[in-house]
Amino acid sequence: MSSLSQILRQKLAATPSGRLPFAQVMELALYHPDHGYYGAGPRKLGRQGDFFTSVSVGPLFGRLLAMQALQEWQTLGEPEDFTLIEQGAHDGQLAEDVLSEIGDRPIRYLIVEPNPRYRAAQAQRLGDRVRWVESLAELKTGPGHGFFLCNELPDAFPVHLVRWNGERWEELHVEADGTEDLRFIPGDLSCEELEAEVQHLPRDLESGHVLEVNLAMLAWIRDLAQAAFRGLIFIADYGLDAEEFYADTRASGTIRRYHQHQMDGHVLENLGGCDLTTHINFTRLIDEAARHGLAQREYGLQGRVLGRMAMSWIQSLEGNPPDAGTMRQFQSLTHPALMGRSFRCLVLRK
Ligand SMILES: C[S@@+](CC[C@H](N)C(=O)[O-])C[C@H]1O[C@@H](n2cnc3c(N)ncnc32)[C@H](O)[C@@H]1O
Repeated sequence: MSSLSQILRQKLAATPSGRLPFAQVMELALYHPDHGYYGAGPRKLGRQGDFFTSVSVGPLFGRLLAMQALQEWQTLGEPEDFTLIEQGAHDGQLAEDVLSEIGDRPIRYLIVEPNPRYRAAQAQRLGDRVRWVESLAELKTGPGHGFFLCNELPDAFPVHLVRWNGERWEELHVEADGTEDLRFIPGDLSCEELEAEVQHLPRDLESGHVLEVNLAMLAWIRDLAQAAFRGLIFIADYGLDAEEFYADTRASGTIRRYHQHQMDGHVLENLGGCDLTTHINFTRLIDEAARHGLAQREYGLQGRVLGRMAMSWIQSLEGNPPDAGTMRQFQSLTHPALMGRSFRCLVLRK
């Protein structure tokens, strides 16, 4: 049994009901400071890791984002306090790619990073070109101008799982059975926020339909809206519109476990040894952003949004084709059969 399974069993035993909402189990599996999949320190991404991200594909993603940020900086009249703000910066690779395109222009780079092991890894890669804050709450007084970016951040937030029983939404909790295994057990909704959120969910579903509720994502977009900076927010992640998210074909939800480029739904096995992740309900995210005053500037499949962002890069090549490696990166990021369709980009104006 892994150390994390033992820790979870102790926690379950110390709980009067012997159960915990799945969101708490996912929090532990991903962010336990010593044994969590992410909490223990930045893991390798890409070919040698468990999954690819647009960042691990190569530096082009960061270059395209940097060009977008530079356009915004110039449109605003090159303000002195213009700051690129990244959250979910992992080992600092995206920051390095963005900063190499920014060059020596007087633009600041700030990383929102709660985990000291990640800050150390980022500092080693990026040196003194970057500053850090631990949370979005620290951005309430400045900077005044910003370009916020994140790739695959809210898909890594712990989610509550709810199941439609034909009459009402129940929450899936986790308990230990008599053997070594953990299992799901339906129960009451564990908090008021979840009770409020299920009011937004459809009720014309087959009994047994499971959905994820990403309350952490809603709190995150609210915190982002309350930050002081004015500018753009760029969010890239895999996700769906509400209609697709609630479709009968996804009746077991979108939560998945990734390990060595294999994906499955056994999310209670090998806790801490695998990534756990869900699709983003972009419709819900956009609604919540609007409720907090963040206007949608652009939303679409990653292939389309990056294709548009690549126009100035292609023009800058003045007819010379990019090298084969860069061309392969562009195809991976934008081709519908690769990352172009499953990933989406949302740009908000703040
Ligand atoms: C799927 S990885 C993506 C890493 C990187 N952005 C990329 O695209 O290659 C998710 C990352 O989000 C980080 N993360 C999760 N919650 C966070 C939070 N509240 N603040 C900062 N980073 C967070 C995790 O530690 C992890 O590094």
